Parts: sequence; structure tokens; C-alpha cells
Amino acid sequence: MSDIAKLEIDGKVYEFPVVRGTENEIAIDVKALRVATGGIITIDPGFKNTGSCESKITFLNGEEGILRYRGYAIEDLTKNASFLEVAFLVIFGELPTKSEFIKFENDIKRNSLLNEEMKDIIDGFPKVAHPMGMVSSLTSALTAFNPATVNINSKVDLYESIVKLMGKFPVLAAWAHSKNQGTPLNYADNSLNYIENIMQMMFKIPTEKYKLNPIAVRALDELLILHEDHEQNCSTSTVRIVGSSEAGLFASISAGVSALWGRLHGGANQAVLEMLEDIQKDGGGVEKFIAKAKDKNDPFRLMGFGHRVYKNFDPRARIIKKAADELFDDLGTSDPVLAIAKHLEEVALNDEYFAARKLYPNVDFYSGIIYRALGIPVEMFTVMFAIGRLPGWIAQWKEMRLNGEPIGRPRQLYTGHTLREFIPFEKR
Ligand code: ACO
Repeated sequence: MSDIAKLEIDGKVYEFPVVRGTENEIAIDVKALRVATGGIITIDPGFKNTGSCESKITFLNGEEGILRYRGYAIEDLTKNASFLEVAFLVIFGELPTKSEFIKFENDIKRNSLLNEEMKDIIDGFPKVAHPMGMVSSLTSALTAFNPATVNINSKVDLYESIVKLMGKFPVLAAWAHSKNQGTPLNYADNSLNYIENIMQMMFKIPTEKYKLNPIAVRALDELLILHEDHEQNCSTSTVRIVGSSEAGLFASISAGVSALWGRLHGGANQAVLEMLEDIQKDGGGVEKFIAKAKDKNDPFRLMGFGHRVYKNFDPRARIIKKAADELFDDLGTSDPVLAIAKHLEEVALNDEYFAARKLYPNVDFYSGIIYRALGIPVEMFTVMFAIGRLPGWIAQWKEMRLNGEPIGRPRQLYTGHTLREFIPFEKR
């Protein structure tokens, strides 16, 4: 392919460089378009054809079902590394050495205490507040308690902000859950690892000894690794664009949490569970719902099946299915909703309609049922996703800042009124 793309407007030809990524992805570099053409812009709602940045963090190929962080296949990472090791990789670019990992983990633990005044903010929320709203607000509030994190002028400042956020974010998430449940707010226990800590902070009650189930911990660890980054999705782009104004890391991540909250983004795992509960209420038979999903006159779709980007298979779903199976073997499927999920998966995978359209369960199908099996309530599903995505958001924010990217400020095509004469109030 040529290294130059030509654009002809009114007989005049403009040339733009064609650039390639390391995986041979091709882009037309239109940075010079406005200046060269005297003000012409491109228009691309939803940025479906627009690369907002160059990035070295995540490679994704939907056709071939590839997802890699910093060049490492997620299949290898979930098999061989822990969530925190992968977080180090995603944020700093390389797998940590043993000493780097110990330092990173200890620095996060050192920062796992929240200012006690944060409890006053939690107290102010109604018990029924959605935990995503609480987590977004509390993440923003963290800035007030850690003002030094706003002005990042050195590598040390940057590192400190990162470990602070990694340490405090899961505590906020667990506290939002406790607020909803009316249970005491637990502190981190620094003898536990990152994932174990999330579980004990969410589920431990003072009257009973909390026993961690290693299979459940491993399933959550793998699931959160699979959520660590997914290149320039809605919440990640939000984090980058907010940070591009030099807003602090915590404020930028708070905006990312809000973006993830929407049902078109982080909410699909919740939709899966709601569908399974509907099937249960209807008597538990999956065949009727499979038939509805196949009926072109019925808008119903099987939630958790199919994917916009992954057209052959969702590599994350392949991995997490195994963890889900192990978890079910361990816990048993005494929960009727989980039994329905297993049955639905089996029937759909053997159905010609789904096979012909390559409609496999996606990561949200399994994440929803894993969260359910772990006893996590539906409204906390997107919060769990946010805990998983935190390292990716941090890495993307850091990359944007270190690259010195310009402030994000798209253009528009104005289609409103042209100049109008003002009508005085009494004449309107
Ligand atoms: N149930 C039944 N039929 C489906 C489903 C489904 N879940 N998904 C797609 N199809 C059918 C379509 O009706 C269409 O059939 P046709 O060719 O006979 O007309 C064919 O499969 C292709 O579907 P498209 O709509 O073209 O696929 P698209 O890429 O637009 O949609 C999407 C992908 C939105 C994920 C879709 O599969 C869907 O709605 N799935 C259910 C919701 C879901 O699980 N979302 C989470 C995605 S994962 C994530 O976001 C992290």
C-alpha cells in the first residue's frame, strides 16, 4: 500500500501520510488537514473511524479474537500472572521483577487506608444510592484529601498518585457495597493480597470469621485481569480526554467510572443476570427464550451472546468459562439461576441459529454468573468491572500525559441558525 493518501476537493489534491502500527494496522494521518485545506474538518460521530491517539498498551483484533497487553497474550497472563502483576505490566510497560513487584504491592498496601472523614461522605449517601455513583463521587473526593496528586511534576509524584489510587479505590468500592448492605465498613488487611482483600472488605462481618475460598479468589483474579484494559473504549477515552486538560488523575478516573456506568458500556453483565432471573420467574425453561431470540419479529436477544468487535470468538470468554466451570464444580449449582445459565449455554451452543451466526457467550455472560456465584449483588457488577479496569485507565492517563498529548478538543459541523436579529422580550 502507498505511503500517501490523496484527497481531492474542487480539483485540488491534498496528500496525507499513511502510517502503520506495529501490527500493521493502517491509518491516514490527517493532523494537517485543517491548515492545509483552510478549515475543512472530518466528521465521525462515535469516532468509529477515528484514532484518537497512538498507544503502546493494548492490541486488540476482533476478527481473530486477539487481546494482548503490552505484547503479552491474555491467555498467558491469566494462566501465569496475578491481577497486580498484570497491573504493573499494563501501567509501567514491563512485567515486574520480584523486587519491583514486592515494592509495588507494599506501596499499594501502604496506601490502603482512607481518611476517616471519607466516612462522613459515605454517611451522606442514601442507603439505596447506586454504588457506581458513590464510587465516582468518592474517587473525586479523594482529590480533596490528597491535593498533592493534582500537580504531577515528577516521576515520583506520578508513582505516588498511582499507588495511592490503586490502594484506595477497592476500599471505596467495598465501602459503597457495605453502605448498600448496611454492614460495617471494613479496612484492608495487609496480610492479604489485592484480590483477597477486595473479597474480605466486601464480605467480612465482625461477628464471624471470614474464610477465603481460593477457587473463588482465583476466578475473580482471572476475571479482573481480563478487564484490565480494552484500548480506546468509552470510559478510557473519557479518562484520557479529561486528563488532557491536566485535571488530576483521581478526577479523570472519577469521570471514567461515570462513563463505565452507562448500560451501553459496563452494564451488559447486569443485563445477563436480569435475563436469567426473568427465565427463572417464567418457570426456568430456556427453550422459550432461545425461540424468542431466534424470532426475527421479536426484539429479544440472548444477553451475553455475540459481540460487536469479536466476530469469531471473545478470547476473554474462552478463558473465563474455565474459571466459571471450576467455580461451579466447587460451589455446586444449587442456585437455580446458575443452573439456568449452564443449561442456556449448553442449548445455545448446540443450536444451529447461534452456530451459523457465530454467536458465542461473551465475557459478560460469564462475568455476570461468576459475580452471582461469589455472592456479589447485581448493582455491584459494574463496580467490579471498574476495579478491574483501574490499571488500564491509569496506564492510558499516564501514557497521554507522558506523550504530552494536546488537550482533547474535537471540532463540529455547525447546523444551527445563521445570524438572527434579536427579538425583545415584550415582542416574543
Ligand atoms: N441473540 C440472538 N440473536 C443475535 C444476538 C443475540 N444475542 N446477537 C446477534 N444476533 C443475530 C442478529 O439478529 C443477526 O441475525 P441476522 O443475521 O439473521 O439478522 C446476527 O446475529 C448478527 O447480529 P448483529 O446485530 O449484526 O451483530 P452486532 O455486531 O451488531 O451486535 C451485539 C453485537 C450488540 C453484542 C449483539 O450480539 C447483542 O445484542 N448481544 C446481546 C447483548 C450483549 O451481550 N452485549 C454485551 C457485549 S460484550 C461487551 O460489550 C463487553
